[in-house]
Amino acid sequence: MRKPVIAGNWKMHKLIADSVATALALKPLVANASHCEVVIAPVFTVLKTVADRLEGSNVRVAGQDCSTESKHGAHTGEVAADMLRDAGATYIIVGHSERRQFYGETDESVQRKTAAALAAGLMVIMCVGEMLEQREGGNAESVVRGQLEGGLRELTASDLERIIVAYEPVWAIGTGRTATPEQAQEMHAFVRRVFAERFSPQASDALRILYGGSVKPDNIAGLMKQPDLDGALVGGASLEAETFAGIVNYKS
Ligand code: 13P
Repeated sequence: MRKPVIAGNWKMHKLIADSVATALALKPLVANASHCEVVIAPVFTVLKTVADRLEGSNVRVAGQDCSTESKHGAHTGEVAADMLRDAGATYIIVGHSERRQFYGETDESVQRKTAAALAAGLMVIMCVGEMLEQREGGNAESVVRGQLEGGLRELTASDLERIIVAYEPVWAIGTGRTATPEQAQEMHAFVRRVFAERFSPQASDALRILYGGSVKPDNIAGLMKQPDLDGALVGGASLEAETFAGIVNYKS
């Protein structure tokens, strides 16, 4: 049985007061959500404050990125994975399409960040997903395969327990144009096949694959009915506690 994960990626939103208020509002709204893991990813500067205020709750905190470097040193502006762990994060997002598109993230850097995050004891949510032109050109699967193989290179079977994949088609992010449950299912099944080939059928069966891209309270239930969909990575709809709780509590 794969326990679903519903994660909110706050991206570059919210100052300290708003972050704390949202986290505290969310806490009671999802307190009974034992059917899934609940995660929020605030910006670096509020991570520790938010994690402290959520201590003892069922809401976990994630970083949105980390350095490729594990060893502390002269890397101005970088944040090491163990620093995020130290600040209270237990998960981390790596390879988000916004980082790939606008900040020079490559499969190679995703692979190094993944290794650094695993070494720091974090659960990794590795994002993959094709752009619209790639889908229209019939290349969606080959793009996703390349991102998976690049990002997961060097991983061993024992690392896989701490890897979660998030399929986020770029054309569905922030556009209001969600992939249909069938489109998402098709790619999730493909991701699972790639894992089975690359690792083992057991590892592939255990892998949690999240969908991201315009997930809202009114489309989550249809997505979650798909057999290979194990949760969601939510952007815009995670910024407001009640809306995000409506996604987390999709079952009730
Ligand atoms: P939206 O939910 O705003 O489309 O963003 C998805 C996303 O990028 C989550 O990481």
